[in-house]
Amino acid sequence: MAGARESIHGQWSSRWMFILAATGSAVGLGNIWRFPYVTGENGGGAFVLIYLLCVAAVGIPIMMGETLIGRRGRQSPINAMRALALEEGLSANWRFLGWLGVVAGFIILSFYSVVAGWSVAYVFYVGGGAFAGTDATASAALFESFTGSALRVIGWHSLFMVMTGIIVARGVSGGLEQAVKWLMPALFVLLLVVVGYAMSTGDFGAAVNYLFAPDFSEVTGESVLAALGQAFFSLSLGMGAIMIYGSYLPAATSIPRTIGLVAVCDTGVAMLAGLAIFPIVFGFGLEPGSGPGLVFVTLTIAFGHMPFGQLFGALFFVLLSVAALTSAISILEPVVAWLVESFKWSRAKASSASALSAWVLGVGSALSFNEWADLQLVGKTFFDWCEFLSTTVMLPLGGLLVAIFVGWRMSQRSTMEELGVSDGFFYRVWRVLVQVIAPIGVLLIFGNALVIFLKDVGVLD
Ligand code: PHE
Repeated sequence: MAGARESIHGQWSSRWMFILAATGSAVGLGNIWRFPYVTGENGGGAFVLIYLLCVAAVGIPIMMGETLIGRRGRQSPINAMRALALEEGLSANWRFLGWLGVVAGFIILSFYSVVAGWSVAYVFYVGGGAFAGTDATASAALFESFTGSALRVIGWHSLFMVMTGIIVARGVSGGLEQAVKWLMPALFVLLLVVVGYAMSTGDFGAAVNYLFAPDFSEVTGESVLAALGQAFFSLSLGMGAIMIYGSYLPAATSIPRTIGLVAVCDTGVAMLAGLAIFPIVFGFGLEPGSGPGLVFVTLTIAFGHMPFGQLFGALFFVLLSVAALTSAISILEPVVAWLVESFKWSRAKASSASALSAWVLGVGSALSFNEWADLQLVGKTFFDWCEFLSTTVMLPLGGLLVAIFVGWRMSQRSTMEELGVSDGFFYRVWRVLVQVIAPIGVLLIFGNALVIFLKDVGVLD
């Protein structure tokens, strides 16, 4: 029954447009900013291996599940979940899965926009020569003095949020498709340039060793949870972004092939980012676990020394900002689509109202690096809490429910029809993954982390 419904918001003009948009959503700060620094905080190789396992066994099957729900429901996640649940004879309460996504989306967008704002600011710092001939200490000092200024960080955060709101207000295909077509490949090429530079001047051997030689003594329940959260964050899962993009997918497109390609691109970019950053970390004696500033401190050292570094550096941060923008719009889109469907608001009104709300929350994250830096709850700032709760808790939880819905609650006939496959090897594997592996994986990882937490706070010993 694929294509029985139509989305009131429009449709991608082709399968390729979906691939570009979904890749635009997946590839962003998660790959270039978050992946390297979370890897650094969790000790390297073993974390990377677990991350790759999470992507393959949990992420990709759930991504197909989200896309098929979106395309079959052809509405915002809240309304699509409700419509499909009723169609399958289930409780309309499944719509709360959509709600969980909306809340997670707000939180993610709020801190995402703050970090994206740093990237926009760095276009000007790097382009203006602030890092010419810099070293590790000077580069770290500049990052700290920049993020130490509440006014500046809030200013760039505001600019980024306004851009996100404007693009979403203009709708699915107005300009966005065009931008993604050129800018994503350009980012990829520039990343290769930085990897080339890091290979020739940094400690490439140490980096490869760090990233790909697993040392399991570093693995804890928390790092496995972090790997799972990172897989969801990077693939844009668990909050309805891929679901809403799936709702604009033409009926005849093969979901498995399309999603496979998106996931491979996303993972490839994360690995490249690691290979660009860690040679510099080790070559310049930096600390891999130094936190959210990692990319901003390391890459700027490379740009400060390579020929045409000012130009390449500025270009790199332009592209990173664009990659962040194509992700941010996918975080805002599910909420806006829902407001338009349910309250008949115009897209302009819906996107200004929701961008403004996320902006307010983001101010808290912006202040976490300066005025509120000491305001901590069990060692985490407001920013850390937003990141932790949304990425590590809410996204895997949303994903778990998606897996249960497509694996256990929807009829086999519906899922097979929507995936466009017959009851063969591929379908069986997918079903085992969403029915058993993904839910058990998420639950085990959650359970384990809970035990560690209870031990930490002294409830268990
Ligand atoms: N996947 C995006 C990134 O890696 C972030 C994102 C998370 C986008 C959740 C949509 C939903 O930057």
